[in-house]
Amino acid sequence: MNEVLARAWDEAADGYEAYFVPRFAPWVAAAVAAVDEVPAGPVLVPCCGTFPEADPLVARFPGREVVGIDLSAGMVRRANARVSGMPGVRAVVGDAAALDPGWEGRCAAVVSVFGLQQIPDALGAVRSWVGALAPGGRLSVVYWPEDTEEDGPFALMRSILPVRSERSWEPGLLDAVASAGATVIRDEHPAFPMEHADAETFFHAFSCSGPMRASALVHGEEFVARVRADFLRAAPSGRWTHTPRARLVTAVR
Ligand SMILES: C[S@@+](CC[C@H](N)C(=O)[O-])C[C@H]1O[C@@H](n2cnc3c(N)ncnc32)[C@H](O)[C@@H]1O
Repeated sequence: MNEVLARAWDEAADGYEAYFVPRFAPWVAAAVAAVDEVPAGPVLVPCCGTFPEADPLVARFPGREVVGIDLSAGMVRRANARVSGMPGVRAVVGDAAALDPGWEGRCAAVVSVFGLQQIPDALGAVRSWVGALAPGGRLSVVYWPEDTEEDGPFALMRSILPVRSERSWEPGLLDAVASAGATVIRDEHPAFPMEHADAETFFHAFSCSGPMRASALVHGEEFVARVRADFLRAAPSGRWTHTPRARLVTAVR
């Protein structure tokens, strides 16, 4: 599964940067803003993608070592192009589901945005991220929960897609953070408006440059055509604005 996901995000990287990164910027800002006091040590960014977290993290913690980790070599290439002028900031290819033991107990913060919902063992990943924190270190995780919105393209897509990701882990998230040795400070659902030129534009971005690219690789072109037809039939015409809710969990070790 990791190979398919990595290939999907390799292929999606340029489109993801152009379409989703500007739209997701308010949640990246919220994840970074949630990290206030931190001890000495590096800042780790699991599932960094093209690394939009880098600029706000460097602005907030100048001079820190900031390391992004992502499964996709294509994403990591783009990430390293973004941070090439930032000393001490780099991205590496790796599986953030279980961090290298070398990070254990060392990090000032672990900040992750919109990666957790893609990791099959999400609770195991979160425990590993807490384990990487130094005493006093901060965890700030933003992910898309199952219920992002009642009405909008994400909700419509969820109602149409025949295969959805396994979400039984969601109610156990706070317990996983606590059992790994951190204290939860905040559990919030930040919502921001997002706009799409029309349903067609959204579908193209979601299936080519977004989270549906992996299922498109697995299930093929016919599958994509079927989902597209169902989606466009049910979608409103013209400009489409919605206000999806993510989940932001902040904790201190
Ligand atoms: C939606 S993108 C988010 C990227 C970035 N954090 C942002 O906010 O724009 C999700 C990223 O998670 C990465 N990813 C998914 N599973 C992963 C894993 N197990 N380890 C590392 N990266 C993973 C994907 O390759 C993809 O680049």
